[in-house]
Amino acid sequence: MQQPNPKRREFYERIARHDMAPLWEVLAALVPPRPVTPCVPAQWKYRDVRSYLMESGELITAAEAERRVLILENPGMRGQSSVTHSLYAGLQLIMPGEIAPSHRHAQTALRFVIEGTGAYTAVDGERVTMHPGDFIITPSWTWHDHGNPGNEPVVWLDGLDIPIVAFFDAGFMERYPEATQPVARREGDSQARYGANLLPLDYAPQSQTSPVFCYPYARTRDALEQLHRGGELHNCHGVKLQYTNPATGGYPMPTIGAFVQLLPRGFQGLAYRATDATVFCAVEGHGSTRIDDKTFEWEPHDVFVAPAWSKVSHSSSDDSVLFSFSDRPAQKALGLWREQCPCTD
Ligand SMILES: [Fe+2]
Repeated sequence: MQQPNPKRREFYERIARHDMAPLWEVLAALVPPRPVTPCVPAQWKYRDVRSYLMESGELITAAEAERRVLILENPGMRGQSSVTHSLYAGLQLIMPGEIAPSHRHAQTALRFVIEGTGAYTAVDGERVTMHPGDFIITPSWTWHDHGNPGNEPVVWLDGLDIPIVAFFDAGFMERYPEATQPVARREGDSQARYGANLLPLDYAPQSQTSPVFCYPYARTRDALEQLHRGGELHNCHGVKLQYTNPATGGYPMPTIGAFVQLLPRGFQGLAYRATDATVFCAVEGHGSTRIDDKTFEWEPHDVFVAPAWSKVSHSSSDDSVLFSFSDRPAQKALGLWREQCPCTD
């Protein structure tokens, strides 16, 4: 940028003493013609990072750490605990016999189970057993704790709206007086009440977050398979579905949307772009995703991130499933979300 002439500079110095600044010097950066982001395309290969995660299991206990998580930091935003400009992601490990103590916070969290069975997440008095591929929500300001009474390490991908809550300076947090909250309902209660295409009589949503807090992978996978057999494919996304709040038909969380897609063997997707930077986690199969000028080869458990307005195209070498999440509901609520897709242009 050109240096201001001496007369202007002197003026800027005088107004700076009054906490003012000239807009015309920064206008182009403040209001860019298209999205500008510090987030860059990046990938975490599970085969590279898993050993570090297991090493962390020997360094610190879940109780000591409160949450034993290795944050996935976007290389364009090191030190900011962010995977995209608006979202946080991390890999959480809970070893057999451990408890991650109960707390609640304003931030909404999702868990996508990567490996291991036998651990549970408890939300507001109900426990759900976690299986690989399950999508689990801990809504804003609900008591939640995790435990692993099983006999193998359990790992999941955490996704939280930490940067969004920080942006609004709206964060609150409390610790439960005990390590675990009392169990008040049988496992499966919320699934039966809200997750079976049924709702209790006179049900009125208590929050903007889905009352179903676990979306089992077996059901998700079956839905994808049925649609795949039907043969209908989106040119960019293959067979792609979004997780919903069954009480509203809307997104499962007010700030974070979550999606799952099946890319059939040999799929070569067309490039699309959208304003919601997206975190992907490969669940099954093998393939690659091109994000602007970078190509990431992926296999199960790999995580990669596509920045806002980056051009994304997926291809697969065998039947593959990708889970993903983004801030799409927040952008849509604010009237900001945009997409460019060759199928709708
Ligand atoms: Fe938490």
